[in-house]
Amino acid sequence: MKRFENKVCFVTGAGSGIGKATALAFAKEGAQVVVTDINGEAAGQTLNEIKQISNTRAIAITLDISQREQVENAIQNTVNAFGRLDCAANCAGVAGPLSAKTHEYPEEFWHQQIAVNLTGNWFLLKYQLEQMLKNGGGNIVMLSSAAGLIGQPENSPYAVSKHGIEGMMKTAAIEYATHNIRVNSVCPTAIETPMIMHGRRNLAVNKEARNEAINFQRMKRMGKPDEVADVVLWLCSDESSFITGSSIKADGGALA
Ligand SMILES: NC(=O)c1ccc[n+]([C@@H]2O[C@H](COP(=O)([O-])OP(=O)(O)OC[C@H]3O[C@@H](n4cnc5c(N)ncnc54)[C@H](O)[C@@H]3O)[C@@H](O)[C@H]2O)c1
Repeated sequence: MKRFENKVCFVTGAGSGIGKATALAFAKEGAQVVVTDINGEAAGQTLNEIKQISNTRAIAITLDISQREQVENAIQNTVNAFGRLDCAANCAGVAGPLSAKTHEYPEEFWHQQIAVNLTGNWFLLKYQLEQMLKNGGGNIVMLSSAAGLIGQPENSPYAVSKHGIEGMMKTAAIEYATHNIRVNSVCPTAIETPMIMHGRRNLAVNKEARNEAINFQRMKRMGKPDEVADVVLWLCSDESSFITGSSIKADGGALA
């Protein structure tokens, strides 16, 4: 029997990078997967890839996690389709389009990162926990960051929002510890995904930034999305049954 057979697993940000790798990994392990992303086309593409590698049931939902009603409806649609919710991998996130010190950071992108990374993840927790209480249990993994544990120069709202995720994760872990619900986070450093290759730091073309990102890890390489997905699945599985309220670093030794 596969590790996630008969489990209903909900993934945000599943159209790209870590979320996509996580959705595919759940499907390979037999889960029924709810693939969500603000980019509906990308979510549909992930769903097609799932259908090619697995015969488990899966659906795609277009979801902007910063919109409370959309989050509430997405959880309701999950329950309508599958009857329950066992695991949630909350991977969706944004890192802002630019680098600037705190006193120069534009207000507009402050609000954007807080709305998605912080408030959006709170909306997710709110409705996921409500459903897991009805199911009698569940597992939630928040995609935090090393920037949830230490500062991130020139991206203050990112560090603030990720530190906030750590706070809500630990609080929920305590509140639901006796309700058979575990809540943990994964804190990666540089993982080779579109967010860092083509985003704020544009590592695909900026060689200096790319070398800096590679050298930050003691392993002298960036991580791969699958290496983070493996940690997410482990945290959602019974193999981590005594772990809740933990922040697991996936950082190639960077913060050691
Ligand atoms: N890549 C890294 O180096 C790294 C390091 C630490 C933490 N993280 C975190 O990992 C998570 C995944 O990042 P990634 O590197 O795979 O990025 P990515 O950009 O490849 O994927 C992020 C996905 O989230 C989706 N998304 C963006 N805003 C959304 C919203 N409002 N609602 C729903 N979906 C939305 C995007 O459409 C995209 O498909 C993020 O939370 C990120 O902060 C990434």
